[in-house]
Amino acid sequence: MFLGIDIGTSAVKVICTDGSTIHGSASADLTVQSPQPGWSEQDPNAWWAATCKALTEVGKTVSLAQVTAVGLSGQMHGAVLLDAQKTVLRPAILWNDSRSTSDCATLREALPEIGEIAGVLPLPGFTAPKLMWVAREEPEIHARIAHVLLPKDYIGLCLHGALATDRSDAAGTLWLDQSARDWSARVAEASATELEWLPPLADGQDIVGHVTADAASETGLPAGIPVVAGGGDAATGAVSLGATEAGRGFISLGTSGQLFVAGDVYRPNPAKFVHAFAHTVPDRWYQMAAMLNGARPIAWLAGQLGISAGDVVGLAETADPVRVPIFLPYLTGERSPHGDPHIRAGFFGLEDSTDRAALCRAVLEAVAFTFADAAESFGDSIADLPHLAAIGGGSRSPFLLHLIATATGMRIGRTTGSDAGPAMGAARLAGCGIGALSLSDLGQEPEITDWFDLLEIPGLDDRLERYRALYRAVKPLH
Ligand code: XUL
Repeated sequence: MFLGIDIGTSAVKVICTDGSTIHGSASADLTVQSPQPGWSEQDPNAWWAATCKALTEVGKTVSLAQVTAVGLSGQMHGAVLLDAQKTVLRPAILWNDSRSTSDCATLREALPEIGEIAGVLPLPGFTAPKLMWVAREEPEIHARIAHVLLPKDYIGLCLHGALATDRSDAAGTLWLDQSARDWSARVAEASATELEWLPPLADGQDIVGHVTADAASETGLPAGIPVVAGGGDAATGAVSLGATEAGRGFISLGTSGQLFVAGDVYRPNPAKFVHAFAHTVPDRWYQMAAMLNGARPIAWLAGQLGISAGDVVGLAETADPVRVPIFLPYLTGERSPHGDPHIRAGFFGLEDSTDRAALCRAVLEAVAFTFADAAESFGDSIADLPHLAAIGGGSRSPFLLHLIATATGMRIGRTTGSDAGPAMGAARLAGCGIGALSLSDLGQEPEITDWFDLLEIPGLDDRLERYRALYRAVKPLH
């Protein structure tokens, strides 16, 4: 049995699988701290505590003694700063933190070709500008940095004691030369980073350590079992769907949203803030539009209305489709396609008669519109895809998937267990690491069990145009 651990933003999720069937799963919630506007932080030790808690929970339904290999997945781009004793120096600065906006401009000026090297233009979510911010604002911490890790690699350190990362997570730092699939000394030098702080690079299925006796007693896992490098959550989500082979595409609907297309060549498209990143498996790259708000606005509205996310979806379905206001979903700014850390969310077009159902529907339509913008930014390159698969918590809603299919013009398919995507991908990489699965097995697409076609939705095209016009109109106000 293989174990996948996904260090998400809202929870740590673990699953036990034989590579196809999920035999046990559990999750433990996390909170995000925002001590100042635009800041987004988590304590790396809270990830470890949540990992131990989720493992204890899953151990109640499956015997962890049967686990033969562990794979890791995690939120990308976060900066975990460690001193020479490998002690955490400050809270991790996360993927949706926008404090380093001015550092991005400095980096772009210092290295105008960075988009071609790193596969995307500097934005504050990425790791490199965060180091520039720390150098500027917290020089005493910067002076003590000896190692920089990504979130899942910190959990790797807790499990096996080694410093390591995989190329798909390294890809999201800006320090990776995507074409050479190796660290770029030029980007490191331009971003207040020493090359020796960066961990050794591996492919996702490579074994990078073994569970230590201490970690075994904290987690219940057998001591000595191998841990593979795993991948960033976008790449592990891909592995769960066979999207390691060129021409496979999917959308991910979690706290963030992604439109992901796998390829076998490096194809940068920095102007549209489409990310061209190294995949977690050898000789593969991918293109990805990354939307910072994903399905999160649904949970946000649910919180404000004091109802569940399921209730928001249920209410949205009852709304009068011709009287839906427009919602801009940019609660934490936006990455693809705007590259705009300053924009914020808002409703427009409220009437005296606007009710909760209309607000819910506006939020669901906005989630779909972010995917329409993402699809447009890929240009012709996704027109030939037969369909898009869907993963993440938001993929549980047929109504949302129909809205996305209609807004993007792409048929959407869903597989069983689609909400466990990244943890499943991590577990499959673990299976590959010990030779139970081959790299070509990872490219097998699981059977699509549900299809979501384009619907006739009154006024949707018009609302999409007004949504785009509204962004252009309010952009200067932020
Ligand atoms: C991808 C991205 C998010 C995070 C958190 O570029 O920023 O998907 O990985 O899930």
